[in-house]
Amino acid sequence: TDYGTPASRSEKSVSLTIDGISVQVPEGTSIMRAAMEMGTAIPKLCATDMLDAFGSCRLCLVEVEGRNGTPASCTTPVMEGMVVHTQTERLKTIRKGVMELYISDHPLDCLTCAANGDCELQDMAGAVGLRDVRYGYEGENHVFAKADGVANDHWMPKDQSNPYFTYEPSKCIVCNRCVRACEEVQGTFALTISGRGFDSRVSAGMNENFLESECVSCGAVSRPARPRR
Ligand code: FES
Repeated sequence: TDYGTPASRSEKSVSLTIDGISVQVPEGTSIMRAAMEMGTAIPKLCATDMLDAFGSCRLCLVEVEGRNGTPASCTTPVMEGMVVHTQTERLKTIRKGVMELYISDHPLDCLTCAANGDCELQDMAGAVGLRDVRYGYEGENHVFAKADGVANDHWMPKDQSNPYFTYEPSKCIVCNRCVRACEEVQGTFALTISGRGFDSRVSAGMNENFLESECVSCGAVSRPARPRR
């Protein structure tokens, strides 16, 4: 099980209520982890036990009584007396909307995709109940990729230069997790995000493919990037 954020080492405990259930967890624990430990899985894409939470995907939003807005549960620490709701209708609508935006910019070739059946995006789309998107997928959102002069129909081209992995920009949701893993787990800065909006993608150096870059194929990014089963 991946609890979403690293465990707190504090010896001081905090009591709070999550979905009507009283829980006690170490101070510094995230709401996400506290919920996961009591058996409530909050939808998530970027959070993992391996990295400090950085709140990139915005899928894990929750409601906290007495607070405005919907904070990300992965980056919000528990507080004494907090009353948290993780499964309200409002939250379900927001999460579905967030997933809808991700899927609107994603190829819909799940049945022939190598990750089919072992894909967090697929799992989370199912978890939030997303069945369709209202926006124009199937190419309509990808004129920018076309302008780059690319193959692979209307999607940005794959980088297949490295014998150990293939990078498909069109399937990357740019959550930043691999970049963080490169920095935090491996202590190197080989990866970065380049471009903006539909053009954004993970890069390794300036105009280089992965094989020619500083990436040494250490595999660190694949550990936080894959759910533990
Ligand atoms: Fe919390 Fe991504 S899991 S923002």
